[in-house]
Amino acid sequence: EKGGYDHFMLKEIYEQPSVIKDTYRGRLLANEGIIKLGGLEDHIQKFVNANRIIIVACGTSWHAGLVAEYIFEDWARIPVEVEYASEFRYRNPIITEKDVVIAISQSGETADTLAAIKLAKQKGAFVYGVCNVVGSSISRETHSGTYTHAGPEIGVASTKAFTTQITVLTMIALKLAKVKGTISQANYMQHLRELELIPSHVEEALKSDEKIRAIADVFKDASNFLYLGRGYNFPVALEGALKLKEISYIHAEGYPAAEMKHGPIALIDEHMPVVVIAVNSNHYEKVVSNIEEIKARKGKIIAVVTEGDTTVKELADFIMEVPKTTETLSPLVTTIPLQLLSYYIAVMLNRNVDQPRNLAKSVTVE
Ligand code: M6R
Repeated sequence: EKGGYDHFMLKEIYEQPSVIKDTYRGRLLANEGIIKLGGLEDHIQKFVNANRIIIVACGTSWHAGLVAEYIFEDWARIPVEVEYASEFRYRNPIITEKDVVIAISQSGETADTLAAIKLAKQKGAFVYGVCNVVGSSISRETHSGTYTHAGPEIGVASTKAFTTQITVLTMIALKLAKVKGTISQANYMQHLRELELIPSHVEEALKSDEKIRAIADVFKDASNFLYLGRGYNFPVALEGALKLKEISYIHAEGYPAAEMKHGPIALIDEHMPVVVIAVNSNHYEKVVSNIEEIKARKGKIIAVVTEGDTTVKELADFIMEVPKTTETLSPLVTTIPLQLLSYYIAVMLNRNVDQPRNLAKSVTVE
């Protein structure tokens, strides 16, 4: 059942090239410049006329929502707020009929997310679901939605659900941007094509498996980790830290790289491994200076870089390479080495990788 892998988590990490493809298959026709999402077509005006989009989710799904915030605002020019479902539901939030709420959930059973949906519906908002489990409570409670096609995710640590959620949210953003006319035709076409290349890029990123295992061996006894990223890769830093803490029980924090100097930099010394996402982007130079600041304080740098990178390679103690894609789509590839790093650290520490202590696959109580 684990398909020859030691754990479901590793199997699910390795399934990502094929499930990302399953998620866009029949929905993305790159050559024709078409995106067809059944659940969206009938309700597109709700999105186009929305004052704002509110994304509600928990855990890893909330991180996918944060990535989506950057993508939606950039391409579709719709204001987006991303909310922890548990906070949103108890805050007496301002919700109107002009709001569209997107609920993201792998299991479709998360109690807080379900309650947030019910509240949003009562207030007259249009509620759209991005779920993996067909027929789940959230998929039934939402007005419409798009399924991710990740297949069953057994490992408690969410991996393929995250990348397929981003795939769906990227398609929604592209479709809306196209309908609203807020994206150039060239950018639209380029991203349809780039999205089709993601499975092969993920495949390529997975080839660093052995190198990552060696890095895991160096750092497995650390008691803390810091994860830094900027822009589209800030949520990836949060996700990398969550993955490490939940399966290895090592304390880890994710931060936007620029926030480092507002506090966390005080933690940095020769015992602190810092994972920095430093792929090609508009922020590259700024991330390089963040790396220099860490180095000056003797922090150990593990950097995720674009293949062929030379600048960061010289500064970092270890690098994990990923193939080049656009900055917008980069979270789909930068996530992969971070999943493997936490997996191997947890295995080396003899943790129960697929069923970490105190955690359940779906959190059906608040
Ligand atoms: O099923 P959901 O996507 O609604 O679950 C949300 C979180 O409980 C989930 O992502 C959790 O944080 C994972 N264990 C993270 O790996």
